[in-house]
Amino acid sequence: MARDSSQYICRVCGAVHAKWAGQCSACGEWNCLTEEVGGAPPGALKPAATKRARGIQFEDLKSESPEPARLITGVSEFDRVCGGGLVPGSALLISGDPGVGKSTLLLEVCARAALKGARVAYLSGEEAVEQIRSRARRMGLAQADVALASATALREIVATLKREAFDLVVIDSIQTLWSDVHEAGPGSIVQVRACASELVRLAKAGGPAMILVGHVTKDGQVAGPRVVEHMVDAVLNFEGERGYPFRVLRAGKNRFGATDEIGVFEMGDTGLREVTNPSALFLGDQNGDRSEREPGTAVFAGIEGSRPVLVEIQALSAPSAYGTPRRAVVGWDSGRLAMVLAVLESRCGLGFGDRDIYLNVAGGLKINEPAADLAAAAALISSVCDVPLPKGCVVFGEIGLSGEVRAVGRAEARLREAMKLGFDKALCPPLSHEPTDIAATSLSRLAEAVERIS
Ligand code: TYD
Ligand code: MG
Repeated sequence: MARDSSQYICRVCGAVHAKWAGQCSACGEWNCLTEEVGGAPPGALKPAATKRARGIQFEDLKSESPEPARLITGVSEFDRVCGGGLVPGSALLISGDPGVGKSTLLLEVCARAALKGARVAYLSGEEAVEQIRSRARRMGLAQADVALASATALREIVATLKREAFDLVVIDSIQTLWSDVHEAGPGSIVQVRACASELVRLAKAGGPAMILVGHVTKDGQVAGPRVVEHMVDAVLNFEGERGYPFRVLRAGKNRFGATDEIGVFEMGDTGLREVTNPSALFLGDQNGDRSEREPGTAVFAGIEGSRPVLVEIQALSAPSAYGTPRRAVVGWDSGRLAMVLAVLESRCGLGFGDRDIYLNVAGGLKINEPAADLAAAAALISSVCDVPLPKGCVVFGEIGLSGEVRAVGRAEARLREAMKLGFDKALCPPLSHEPTDIAATSLSRLAEAVERIS
């Protein structure tokens, strides 16, 4: 029987409800509410407490308080995604699938920050200290002065962190911690919430920059990091496709920086290597640039965060053996593929009705820019006509439902990156400035792209 002080938390979206229900009214998921005993229900602030409380003091914007200096860790891809280093007293969540490389990344961050003079602690509930040390040795970071501990009891962790002044603390992972205030087991939604809120409070009260690691699991057995997302200042997702060495760090929420920034890493035998020029990596072949490409491939000049990135988009269309043709997409939105196919069919007379379509973004990158429409369309046209795109050509532009090619932002940066990597032609929307060093073919309708390629 529920007690008065119980509240119910959604395992999927973290919404808090006063009453149990079969469905979460916030996210619509079924059977996902978990009881949290002891939490204060909304509006529980007693009048007696307010009597004793003192009023708060407001201060105006003008009053001088120096901006705290950011902690630059030295892993520049990580620092950039954070918005230019870590903010002291902030809390950050790094989430990702188990095995993607979160511990490896954070060990690197800790070690590099310590080598720059920061006081750093790395607390692991998953690995023994000796295991962490041997990993650090393999990654060539054994010289760094990082305080290591294997700990899971929240009370001990908080006591230690209050006693010792650290600049940066990593908790790997939040799902292994337990607080003796609650009876639920480690990893349960109640424990994850309680431990995260305690650690965030500690950070905010003039504590260290706190990084919490959270595993994402799809089966819902372990409380997902979604419940922690509301509490922290920034959420960084570490992503990687199985079978590819590339890892992408992407900001999902950031109170201190842009959320469209990405950091690219490559996993190797000795840890993660920062990839400062991702274009060369995502082009599908290392000598990239102007070599002849197969029919069905187009190089998209994209923008990820503040950086231009060239990516190869591959399309394959084959006669379908079944009644309903297949549409399979990796790294792009299947809804947008359906739209591009519909526009090609109805505005350009290029039918795909009885063909299977496969679309793949090389290198395991996920693209969500509408500017990729034209590149995907070019790859599809090239595949169905079995004609390669011109040598050294990049493509970008958004496609509208009436078949028009629409302008996209930062065209100059895209073209500059293409030139830097040896491309000399572009298929793109009409430009406001004609570039001098690249032969840009402006297209205002998708039908013109079909004419040029086929
Ligand atoms: P890890 O950082 O333990 O993942 P997470 O903390 O996200 O669960 O990384 C695990 C994977 O990374 C593992 O499959 C092995 C691989 N790896 C390397 O390939 N090279 C390395 O130098 C390290 C440390 C790990
Ligand atoms: Mg780990």
